[in-house]
Parts: sequence; C-alpha cells; structure tokens
Amino acid sequence: MSSIKTSTNPHLNNSSSFDVERVRRDFPILSREVHGKPLVYLDNGASSQKPRVVVESVRDAYESYYSNVHRGAHYLSQRSTDSYEEARETVARFINAPSEKNIIFTSSVTESINLVAATWGKKFLKAGDEVILSEMEHHANIVPWHMLREECGIKLMFVPVTDAGDFQLNKFEQLLNANTRLIAITECSNVLGTMVPIKRLVEIAHSRGVPVLVDGAQGVVHHSVDVQALDCDFYGFTGHKLYGPSGIGVLYGKTEILESMPPYQGGGDMIEHVTLDHVTYNKPPYRFEAGTPPIVQAIGLSAAIKYVERLGMESIFNHEQDILGYANQQLTEVEGLQIFGTSENKAAIMSFIVHGLHSFDLAAILDREGIATRVGQHCAEPLMDRFGVEGMVRASFGLYNRRKDVDSLVFAIEKAKGMLL
Ligand code: ALA
Repeated sequence: MSSIKTSTNPHLNNSSSFDVERVRRDFPILSREVHGKPLVYLDNGASSQKPRVVVESVRDAYESYYSNVHRGAHYLSQRSTDSYEEARETVARFINAPSEKNIIFTSSVTESINLVAATWGKKFLKAGDEVILSEMEHHANIVPWHMLREECGIKLMFVPVTDAGDFQLNKFEQLLNANTRLIAITECSNVLGTMVPIKRLVEIAHSRGVPVLVDGAQGVVHHSVDVQALDCDFYGFTGHKLYGPSGIGVLYGKTEILESMPPYQGGGDMIEHVTLDHVTYNKPPYRFEAGTPPIVQAIGLSAAIKYVERLGMESIFNHEQDILGYANQQLTEVEGLQIFGTSENKAAIMSFIVHGLHSFDLAAILDREGIATRVGQHCAEPLMDRFGVEGMVRASFGLYNRRKDVDSLVFAIEKAKGMLL
C-alpha cells in the first residue's frame, strides 16, 4: 500500500495528526442538513460519501473523453481505454497485486463472489466437497455458496463466533478435513467490526492445500491490504464503500487460478475467436469481463483510491480507531444499550440495541436528528440468529467522522429513550 510522506500530506495538520475538518471539506454532501439538522453520516458500512475529486473525475470522463473501451479506432475510445486500464493498475498497486492482469472489474463484491462460485466453484467442486464460511458472513458470501449447494450438493461449514464476536481460529482448524475445498471468509464483519486474522488463516488453509477467498468489502476501507503478503487466492471488494462510485467491484485472483477458470458470462471482449461452430476465450482478466464494462465507475474508483492513498491508509486507520475507542467509551455509558462485537481487533463499526426500544423506532428518531445509521439484519441473518436478536442499529464510521458525531449519536439515543421508554 503506498502512502505519501507525512510532510507532503495536505490533510495532516502541523502536529502530523489527521486533520478531519480539512478532510470533511473534500466531501460536499457533509455540509448539508437533514430534517433541519446538520447531517451526521454514520452509515459508511452500507455506502460511503464521495470526495469532490471522485465526482469531478466522473464528470470529467463523461464531459471530455467518454467512449467505449477496447473497441474503437478513434481518439476518444483510446483515451477511455487508457483511463480504464490505468484504473486497473491503480487497483493492483493499492492492494499490492503482482500485476494488473490479476484484477477483474465487476459490478460489486457480490458479483465478484458470484463469479468465483459460478466459474471456479462449478468447475472444481462436486457433491460432498466442503466450503468453510463463518457465522458472521454477509449474505453476499453465503448465498452464492448455498446456490452451489443446491446445484451440486456441496456442504457448507460455519466457523462459530464467540459472544464477543471473535473469529475462532481453533474452531476453524477443527472444521478443516480431507473434504475441505475452499475457505470463503470476510476480512471484517459488516455488523460486529471483527477483523479476521486472514494471514494466519491462509497459512493454515494452505498447509492443507485449501485455497482462500477473502470478502474484503468492509476490510479494505479501514486498513491497508497487501494480497501478496496475505497470500490469499481471491480477494474481492467494492468501490462504493471505498469513497468511489457504485456499480464497480474488484476481484483479485492468483494468475494460475484465474487461468484455470472458465468464463463467467459470454459476450463481447471476453473472446479470442468466434465462428459459427466454435469459440475460444480471451485471457484473464478480459475473459471475465463480458460486454461493456463499468468504464466511468472504474475511473471514479481510481480517483477514490488515489484520494485515500494521499491521506494514507495508516492515518485513516489510526483516526478511525480513535473514533471507535471514543464511541465504545460513550456508548458503554448509555444505560440499557448493548453493544454487539467487542473484539479487541475490530474496525470502526458499532452495532447495538437499546433494551426496551425497537431498533427501527430508534433509527427513525436518530434520522429525525439528522443521524444516518443502518437498522435491521444487515444482510447477516445467521448472525442475528446467533445473537438471538431480530435486528440491531449500526453506526459505521468513515474517515470523515469526528468524536462530536459520536456525541450527537449519544445525545439522540438519550432523547429517543426519553420519548419512548
Ligand atoms: N453490505 C452493506 C452493509 O453492510 C450494504 O450495510
């Protein structure tokens, strides 16, 4: 992960700490009001807001050089192709992939995981083979495997989480056996914030010859990622949580694995030759990018990545950990509030209920105070079952959140308690 030196980073103040007020000025939407109250945006786990540089990069592409890619003989097509392929290089650098050829653009991390299940999964898995997931997976990393279970008879095994929401490496090791063919695991729980010890997990899995797919949707936004150091076989993430546009996702895969995989969808650009009775396929990553790809979304993602690189992922991590520590301290003091996910190794996500208050009522009152949270099952129904709750309220923090956003949250929760209890 590249980050520029402290001295050249315009978002660090004189004491070299993260200048969050300056960062906030990069995000036009943060200065708006909602229901007559200043917006307090705490729904970054669902989708984050966009800095001006991302919006401008998208507008610039449409206004000054937009065309289709890999197809035209004309200037605009070449210019768009260059920018689209430059975005692939940016992504490769960002997660330290060995080459841009290891980077497939998809529409979302959901599509990235579906792609692996539909191609690698269908080719290499058969009835009785086992895929290990965890209890805290997002539906995006459960349902594609259920679909394969229904189609091919594979078995899904789930690593349990502790009451604190910790991933249990020992339980994971106990699930590994001669039938295990794949580990598909989140890097960071979208509900609990728990960070999974991916590097150690990969070492254990590889010692048994089992490949690992990492769902990095919630991980890549909070800390720097190095896919070569992790040695994972697949890594997926999505652009819109990383301050980029929606409609763009990434699938990283190791070269030999991508080369062994059949195509995902058929169409233009993914072929080498097509005749009336035969087809041969392009090399990865193009083999997996049928049709016109999300061109401008990829360009916007590249701008978002360069933006977070300029801030420095380490600075972002440290800033968010400060907010997390403060939120933990303040929310713990709210009577009747129960936090889910108290792992020592967690990202800036706080999910909770307030006993006696329905979570949807609470979230509605928070909204009237200008505070955007997410409420419900968070696309993680098995995890709700694990904790015996119907839903939770989630405050998920991003690089532009401040301690005073936590104060606003706590103030509004107390107000809701006063109204409803
Ligand atoms: N996966 C997103 C979330 O956790 C939508 O809210």
